Amino acid sequence: MTSLTLPGAPYFSRREGVLFCEELSLQALARQHGTPLFVYSKAAMLGALAPYQKAFAGQDAQVHYAMKANSSLGVLQVFAQAGCGFDIVSGGELARVLAAGGQASQVIFSGVGKTRAEMRQALDAGIACFNVESEAELDVLSEVAISCGKVAPVSIRVNPNVDPQTHPYISTGLKGNKFGIAHEDTLRCYLHAASLKGLKVVGIDCHIGSQITSAGPYLDALDKVLDLVEAIEAAGVPIHHLDFGGGLGIDYNGDTPPAADALWAQLLARLDARGFGGRRLMIEPGRSLVGNAGVCLSEVLFLKPGEQKNFCIIDAAMNDLPRPAMYQAFHRIEPLAARATAATVYDVVGPVCESGDWIGRDRSLAVQAGDHVAVMSAGAYCMSMASNYNTRGRAAEVLVDGDKVHIIRVRETAQDQMRAERLV
Ligand code: LLP
Repeated sequence: MTSLTLPGAPYFSRREGVLFCEELSLQALARQHGTPLFVYSKAAMLGALAPYQKAFAGQDAQVHYAMKANSSLGVLQVFAQAGCGFDIVSGGELARVLAAGGQASQVIFSGVGKTRAEMRQALDAGIACFNVESEAELDVLSEVAISCGKVAPVSIRVNPNVDPQTHPYISTGLKGNKFGIAHEDTLRCYLHAASLKGLKVVGIDCHIGSQITSAGPYLDALDKVLDLVEAIEAAGVPIHHLDFGGGLGIDYNGDTPPAADALWAQLLARLDARGFGGRRLMIEPGRSLVGNAGVCLSEVLFLKPGEQKNFCIIDAAMNDLPRPAMYQAFHRIEPLAARATAATVYDVVGPVCESGDWIGRDRSLAVQAGDHVAVMSAGAYCMSMASNYNTRGRAAEVLVDGDKVHIIRVRETAQDQMRAERLV
């Protein structure tokens, strides 16, 4: 164990050596529900939302949870009940919002490749805004809206060419990224959008990347977006809302992103200073709302000592926890019950037949076969990116609320996986 604060504290804590989620022992949950098991803390989710709500008290502002981070229905339900809207990127995500009790009128639809069918589905549902990412999409959306007898509310996603100083796979607002419309083309695209019969311009938006750990890139992007709003409005197109994306990072292992309220205090001050105080705001945080509200519990299957490396083989794998393999991401790995024995340095790996199937490298752990570990900070971009590779069923998920536990997803069986398939 390191001396760093446990990610997800105080909702995840160690009591007399044993890891707890709120009032429940994780060891007991692992035994009761089996592993791999995702465990989420409802209080941690609401605790992560609270600084946004505090920052926006008295403002005309709405939080749209970016559900790609974790789209399980039980998780969506928590945010819907807390008054959040949703940022979606597919028709499937829209169906999930509605199934979880969310309102279509609180949905914004992002993404570079919306299909005509998805546009129709979202228009029929009556979503709040389409965040459009190319000029071609403006034309198609207008055409689809006219054919449905509707007018599509749109904002254009600006690519401000700002470096968010994060992993290259999760930076989205740089010139070389596929996202958004280049800063210098934005004014022309707004004038074009305003001329299309099927569209109504309502806002502007920007999202520069994910796991951002400082305020600087946000302030730079905000200035660029506000320069554009001034130019667009001077050209006669009113911009009702500013959507400032998501992207705020979390503490995986001693990372120190600004708190959401501190970040927004700076951004709101800049908005005021530039004469945009009181303008309607929308934001799309994902990871910062759920990342540290979840852990993945796993059983140690075998210890395999070797000449160059010792391996700790656990029953969770890259299909459950894809972030290390995809982004060399670091997740803390904590034994559920501390042992007094000496620790050994292991590569913690899963059962999948790929050398890339590692969860943590060179981790010092005091564990034996049959023990359980928690992979920390696993609430965001784990279950929502999970796959069935090696015909591994997706894990079960539970939501802890105080001393109560709700099963929000049962473990997937091989039958579930084969349901849609047919023999020749
Ligand atoms: N809005 C848009 C348009 C986005 O593309 C994203 C994330 C978000 C909001 C939410 O960003 P967040 O607040 O979660 O940073 N799978 C990667 C992260 C990909 C993020 C993609 N876009 C990972 O595991 O690190």
